[in-house]
Amino acid sequence: MHILILGAGAMGSLLGARLSGTSATVSLLSTNREHIRAVSGDGLVIEELDGSIVPYRLSAFHSPRDVPGTADLVIVMVKSYATRDAVGSITDCCGASTVFLTLQNGIGNWENIAAVVDRKKVLVGSTAQGSTLVRPGRIRHGGNGATFIGEIGVPASERVREIVELFRSAGLVTEPSDHVERLIWEKLMVNAGINAITALTGIRNGVIADFASASSICRAAVEEALPVARAKGFEMGPETVDRVLSVARATAINRSSMGQDVDRKKRTEIDAINGAIVAFGEQCGIPTPVNRTLTGLVKTLEASYLGKS
Ligand code: PAF
Repeated sequence: MHILILGAGAMGSLLGARLSGTSATVSLLSTNREHIRAVSGDGLVIEELDGSIVPYRLSAFHSPRDVPGTADLVIVMVKSYATRDAVGSITDCCGASTVFLTLQNGIGNWENIAAVVDRKKVLVGSTAQGSTLVRPGRIRHGGNGATFIGEIGVPASERVREIVELFRSAGLVTEPSDHVERLIWEKLMVNAGINAITALTGIRNGVIADFASASSICRAAVEEALPVARAKGFEMGPETVDRVLSVARATAINRSSMGQDVDRKKRTEIDAINGAIVAFGEQCGIPTPVNRTLTGLVKTLEASYLGKS
């Protein structure tokens, strides 16, 4: 199986490295030229959770034109706002039987991929792995959460189970899911409760669970999002807050992906996370002042370095 990782940032590179140890052939594709140059040259280095430093040899490309052959599986890991363009740019790397799997953060990724390729080819999942890009060619594994994979609207199929087995053979704790839409909402709660707070304050994920001042904002953001999830058909109780805090603990040394975006003065996924909760809340007549404030503050920060309002 040829796996193309579309968007080889911190998480894409981590998955690519793990999967390169399986029967699959892995190609990384990223717009980050320095990272691709470093991985193609000296390889990808992972600072593991136990402190060991492990090098990986991987094929890495900056342009879809350079990717050899056809991908059997494309794992979409680009930022949510870049999804359509990125998937549209790799049609030459795909064939009639290519399957796409999104493990991205946020809401709307499946829809964005299905706007470009046949929706029957799109699998969906969520992962609570944590990974930080330390510098080009080097990432730090920041947490070992579970990965779930499924299909929209139907129980986990044979092709889902095959990919789950492949992920397991890569050492990734992975389960098939019959309710993947719910998982996306559960992951949305995790990202809504962790990412904006870490982005705005410069802290690592674990600090959210350790400090009452941070965990109370996290709690408020998640609790006010629960009725929105319910209005969308996903029954979630107050225990959701504990689940979010336990992900913060499990990825304690990680800087969230939004934190890393802000550190590198990049556009964030705020619109697909807290911003999406605000938008859904408006549709359903549910006020979401905490998520609105977090969204406004992250957008203000973004505007300060991107120069846009
Ligand atoms: O976006 C992220 O950083 C990750 O989804 C998670 C699980 C919060 C770990 O940092």
